Amino acid sequence: MASLNTQSRKHARTQQIRPLAGSLLALAIGFGAATAHADDALPKLPSKTPLKVGFAQTESNNPWRLAETRSFKDVAAKCGWQIVMTDANGSNSKQVSDIQSMIAQHVDLLVFPPREEKPLAPVVLQAKKAGIPVILVDRDVDQSVAKAGRDYITFIGSDFIDQGHRAADWLVKATGGKAKIIELEGTTGASAANDRKKGFDEIIAKNPGMTIIASQSGDFARDKGRQVMETLLQAHPDVTAVYAHNDEMALGAIAAIKAAGKQPGKDIQIVTIDGTKGGMDAIAAGELGASVQSSPFFGPLACDVAQRYAKGEKIPTWVKVSDRFYDKSNVQQSMQYGY
Ligand code: AHR
Repeated sequence: MASLNTQSRKHARTQQIRPLAGSLLALAIGFGAATAHADDALPKLPSKTPLKVGFAQTESNNPWRLAETRSFKDVAAKCGWQIVMTDANGSNSKQVSDIQSMIAQHVDLLVFPPREEKPLAPVVLQAKKAGIPVILVDRDVDQSVAKAGRDYITFIGSDFIDQGHRAADWLVKATGGKAKIIELEGTTGASAANDRKKGFDEIIAKNPGMTIIASQSGDFARDKGRQVMETLLQAHPDVTAVYAHNDEMALGAIAAIKAAGKQPGKDIQIVTIDGTKGGMDAIAAGELGASVQSSPFFGPLACDVAQRYAKGEKIPTWVKVSDRFYDKSNVQQSMQYGY
């Protein structure tokens, strides 16, 4: 177990879990004594089967999102969940209305990754008001509006700031502390993008030979990443490194770099986050330098948390997922973790 407070996420206490792809291993891990209490003000969750659970996905445009959705589909029957699923197609307002319609259907439990921190916070309060408990997975909401342990049960997810630190540490070593970096940011306003930027930029700021020459959103999407990289390459032909907030944008950047007649992995070092199969293949091919894993397998963890919460157990306000790291030294033997 580890305790960690960050400026952006004021969750008081955490429990660290390393999930295995598609496994129920995490179910065996018990919550310790140093936990936040299941506040009386939070709605109760009935212990019944089937439990009607709403899962509101943000979009389905990349392998990470598909793996996340699959992990909920896979766990539903084992967990006794009758699951209602929606897909917001990359729209905050659609995700909000999807969740509002689940509230109107009186689901027993709501689980979702909030696409952006601010627009998705009020609907957490609406669920609470309607007596429906909420578990947030993957991304978090603005804690000044809705707070874990007070307005929703918990946040289950990675430490995105730490992911940014790890990506930057690798890049500093790989470039000998000297680089001109293009940063491809994720979806503007998403906690994953905000915190991955913060973590990376913090380390770069401590290395005088490293400069971020441009930083722009590619919306976590491969083609958008390719287009943004194409434009930035023209404006900054002296670029020597790329930090992409996810594998898909890194793969888009690799395509743009090749189209510009440069060699990814040689002329330009690239570091990213996710650990998808495509990212790992690119590491094996020498085009991508490293990828910090960001596990999408929240289904079993959410099932475990829900069952414990229904029994009245104490739940930490942040169930922190710990992530692997892949580079050329271990990618071949780690391929089974790709998705
Ligand atoms: O919130 C997690 C991020 O969202 C993943 O890195 C990315 O691939 C996804 O779209």
